[in-house]
Amino acid sequence: MSAEDKLTRESVLAALEDVKVPGTKVSVLKVDLIGEVRIDGDEVAVQIVRTTEKEETINAVGDLVAEAIGVLPGVASLTIEVDDRSEPQEAPAGPHGQSSDPFAAREKLPGVARVIAVASAKGGVGKSSVAVNLALALRDSGHRVGILDADIYGPSVPIMLGADQQPEISDTDRKITPIDAHGLQMISMGLLIPESQPVVWRGPMVFSAVRQFLKDVQWSDLDYLVVDLPPGTGDAQLTLVQQVPLAGVVMVTTPQEVALTDVRRGVMMFRSVDVRVLGIVENMSYFICPDNGKSYDIFGRGGGARVAEQFSLPLLAEIPIDPAIRESGDAGRPIVLQGSGPVYDSFLELAHRVDELAVQNQPE
Ligand SMILES: Nc1ncnc2c1ncn2[C@@H]1O[C@H](COP(=O)(O)OP(=O)(O)O)[C@@H](O)[C@H]1O
Ligand SMILES: [Mg+2]
Repeated sequence: MSAEDKLTRESVLAALEDVKVPGTKVSVLKVDLIGEVRIDGDEVAVQIVRTTEKEETINAVGDLVAEAIGVLPGVASLTIEVDDRSEPQEAPAGPHGQSSDPFAAREKLPGVARVIAVASAKGGVGKSSVAVNLALALRDSGHRVGILDADIYGPSVPIMLGADQQPEISDTDRKITPIDAHGLQMISMGLLIPESQPVVWRGPMVFSAVRQFLKDVQWSDLDYLVVDLPPGTGDAQLTLVQQVPLAGVVMVTTPQEVALTDVRRGVMMFRSVDVRVLGIVENMSYFICPDNGKSYDIFGRGGGARVAEQFSLPLLAEIPIDPAIRESGDAGRPIVLQGSGPVYDSFLELAHRVDELAVQNQPE
């Protein structure tokens, strides 16, 4: 690294000096909008002090800071944190976070006994379909269940559950009341985040906003909260799973080998932050032809079983390809609401397995 590539506190502060409070010519440093600035080798962490309730303003400042610091030579990663002075707490340990204890930020969610995250290495494998049907199957097994759509890049849970109204946010304490959807308590992050948020900076800023939302949602006496994570196994997913103690992650995949390589990466990533993967769900496993009742392995069934074996994980379910899964999802009435049939049975079995494993793995 050459001398001019060296990252110093001075170069970071000089860059921040040029960042102005949105709509003004005043530097963010002048009005104490910036809290702690930490530099560790080539990693920078900047705290934005919450001086306003307005999430848009905080987000806008975050964008400007990210722009200014992102172009500095020698910066490998930038973590932006929002410092809520009103409620002092440990800084979240993001994937590039500086906290030596990655679990310091894991705070139990009020009103929730157990959190199950549904993850996938890629989009389009049926993660949301599995999340909503698993949630409904857990409810059918007698539990009180909530569902959190954390997939801000493609929020589909509200559509699948036929409930896209905004949740109520109390004027006095900002508490958010989940929507009722087929007996589930439901919140979609996508509905709470302003659309003006530029997608490219969504990562760090949005997930600090998510942390705020998570604390503000008033779940009522849930046995299970099922979280539909964003697809992929990168920083955003890590940040999210580091917000709360999880009973475990359910990994959804399709049987093809290409999907499985990504699943392996995902399993290793969750393990690296001590999040337990409960098992694998192979979706779109096989197709039962309605004309002759024969089973066809369209994508080559069995990939899920192979990856499960490789990591000594249980294969929790094999869900068939069934046009009714798509149609019912599009219509806002997921297939489990039918209350019978082979797909219903496989989701009910999945719920039982998840329940058994989650109880064994209850975090302190
Ligand atoms: N087992 C299945 N059989 C038929 N269609 C499915 C199945 N699983 C998911 N789908 C459909 O595939 C599409 C993608 O599923 P979705 O759950 O939205 O995936 P993801 O959340 O992983 O992006 C949706 O149209 C959904 O209805
Ligand atoms: Mg989805």
